Amino acid sequence: MAIRLLRLVLLPLAVLVAAAALGTFVIGRDHVSAGSTAMENPGMRLTASDSSTPAQQLALGRTLFEESCSSCHGDNANGKGGVGPNLQGVGAAAVDLWLSTGWMPLKTPTLQPANKPPSFPPSEIRAIAEWVASLKPGGYPIPQSVNLAGTKEPTGFDLFSLNCAPCHTITGAGDALANGYHAPPLRGLTKTQVLEAIRTGPQNMPVFSPGIMPKSQALDVVDYVTKEIEHPTDIGGLGLGQVGPVAEGFVGLFVGVGACLLAAYWVGDRTVEDEDDTVKRHDEEEGPEPGDGDTAETIAPGGA
Ligand code: HEC
Ligand code: HEC
Repeated sequence: MAIRLLRLVLLPLAVLVAAAALGTFVIGRDHVSAGSTAMENPGMRLTASDSSTPAQQLALGRTLFEESCSSCHGDNANGKGGVGPNLQGVGAAAVDLWLSTGWMPLKTPTLQPANKPPSFPPSEIRAIAEWVASLKPGGYPIPQSVNLAGTKEPTGFDLFSLNCAPCHTITGAGDALANGYHAPPLRGLTKTQVLEAIRTGPQNMPVFSPGIMPKSQALDVVDYVTKEIEHPTDIGGLGLGQVGPVAEGFVGLFVGVGACLLAAYWVGDRTVEDEDDTVKRHDEEEGPEPGDGDTAETIAPGGA
């Protein structure tokens, strides 16, 4: 009876939940696509699509730049004293990195822009980057496809420990740098972004040019960062939040030393008991043959 009632209630409930989930999925997708279409037409009627010509792409890039960037970086991206640096010659890869990480456009001047969702869809970021790059040669193009086939993760680890860990820490958790800057945690990044960061050296990160780090090595690092750093395998056991070897060492120290103390206490306790036993047994053994002295004493006078 109770079970039948339960089924009577549960079945419609399950159907309702399933319908709601499906609805949210469908509406959510509609919403997202509507949102991105709106983003691709920000008041202006140019869209970046695969069918648009390079000239159209550049025109779109220029318009978007005028709307969102020129107030700080100047009309021709040549900088505006005290507001934004000259972007001529930084290259498309730099612009792509600064926009895809959400660092730009800046709303309020800060010491170091924070990572946030990008303000533009990838097609518009590309258009802006290509337009800026078209103004003056320099920098790097946006990597077309970052192919990690044949990369060597152990080499990537070695290169990372040597070149990147001093700032980003060996687990990639990030760390504070001098003068209020910080090296951000290396999480949720694409292969393209990591390669762009290596080549363009944003802010006070050094530039690792092909002369310093050849392409194959750069790809080994990208491989290590996007696979091991972002999805650690925790071979040592618990991940402990990937806080790094020093903090993990402390945890190890406390747990380890604690365990040693407990073991020492336990062993010590048993030894005392054992000693008591031996002493007692020894006493008992010696018990039956006492009187050595007595006998000697009684004999002595007798013998004397
Ligand atoms: C409110 C002002 C402001 C706006 C708007 C702004 N920027 Fe910036 N931008 C800056 C400042 C300031 C820096 C230097 C930041 C730093 O070094 O931390 C900067 C740095 C950059 C850099 C790095 C330059 C380099 O030498 O590596 C790029 C690329 C960039 N901006 C692109 C853009 C683009 C593209 C837009 C528009 C989508 C934009 N910015 C909008 C102020 C602004
Ligand atoms: C001198 C310190 C320093 C070294 C060494 C360094 N970085 Fe950075 N890195 C930074 C700083 C600072 C930033 C943040 C730049 C910003 O916010 O504009 C950064 C940003 C990044 C980003 C973008 C992170 C994000 O969340 O958007 C990546 C990826 C990156 N670094 C990878 C590397 C790799 C790979 C190496 C080694 C080849 C390396 N870094 C070496 C200081 C450093």
